[in-house]
Amino acid sequence: MNLSDRLQLPSYLHHTDDVKRRVEELRNRAVVLEVDGLGRKFDSAKGEVTALHDINLEVRSREFVSVIGPSGCGKSTFIKILAGLDTPSSGAARIDGTPIDGPGAERGMVFQGYTLFPWLSVKRNVMFGMRMKGVKRKSAEQQALEWLEVVGLEKFADHYPAQLSGGMKQRVAIARALANEPRILLMDEPFGALDAQTRAAMQSHLLRVWEKVDVTVLFITHDLDEAVYLSDRIVVLGAHPGRILEVIDVPVDRPRDPEQFLTGHFLATKRRLEELIHSGGHGDQDEAA
Ligand SMILES: Nc1ncnc2c1ncn2[C@@H]1O[C@H](COP(=O)(O)OP(=O)(O)OP(=O)(O)O)[C@@H](O)[C@H]1O
Ligand SMILES: [Mg+2]
Repeated sequence: MNLSDRLQLPSYLHHTDDVKRRVEELRNRAVVLEVDGLGRKFDSAKGEVTALHDINLEVRSREFVSVIGPSGCGKSTFIKILAGLDTPSSGAARIDGTPIDGPGAERGMVFQGYTLFPWLSVKRNVMFGMRMKGVKRKSAEQQALEWLEVVGLEKFADHYPAQLSGGMKQRVAIARALANEPRILLMDEPFGALDAQTRAAMQSHLLRVWEKVDVTVLFITHDLDEAVYLSDRIVVLGAHPGRILEVIDVPVDRPRDPEQFLTGHFLATKRRLEELIHSGGHGDQDEAA
């Protein structure tokens, strides 16, 4: 008898009425990100590597979509293409119908390393993008303070990055990305370097911010709990070639709460993710082992 039989988990495909309503409502929203037959090949010493193969996806307004998969399945390659930092070998991606061609202010990036400018105060870090766009200093300063309030760091406006904890730095990075009023936030394992407790606090914090701000999120993670807790949908990638194995509508009610981690629908979803990841081709780490 397997674990889910013993635990008598519901099917991850079973939706409560609340979840059905959310899924239905999301499907009717405008498409923000459209990915069409996207592929990326690299030349390497061992020959050609297909990092991504025929990725098709639509992400809708204010949707929270996570991408998971084993190491080396192409997650970072995918998000770099969406950020305009890499170009696909085939296919295309569009934001609000406009093909992605290089970086753009309508896409905000939050990556794992702390990318704050160490010589600028927290406030000036958040003002940076606005100043580059030509927003007047006073106005940029006021908006920066408002964004810092959204992430709960208004008291640290005049501190420097070195004076902040890892979690606080990532909150500044989120405020800085949101200050440019992006259509979509692209997040590549943003909490990957944080300890478990800070990471859990950041997940809840990000959800509260996302509930307040009109922004779509594409979030990359290795962590199954994190993916289920945060997302409306989860895109599961397999490795070699990096391809979509399944897209799951997360059957957990919103608003989310850490107590939901032990509910049947949460565990059933995690179990399905584990099945897919184990069946979907080995990642780079497995190969090296
Ligand atoms: N610039 C590059 N040149 C050659 N190969 C590359 C390049 N970038 C990525 N790759 C290869 O493409 C594949 C996908 O890499 P990618 O970094 O996107 O994986 P990932 O899913 O983000 O992994 P991780 O979970 O470890 O961050 C890997 O096999 C990697 O070696
Ligand atoms: Mg990566």
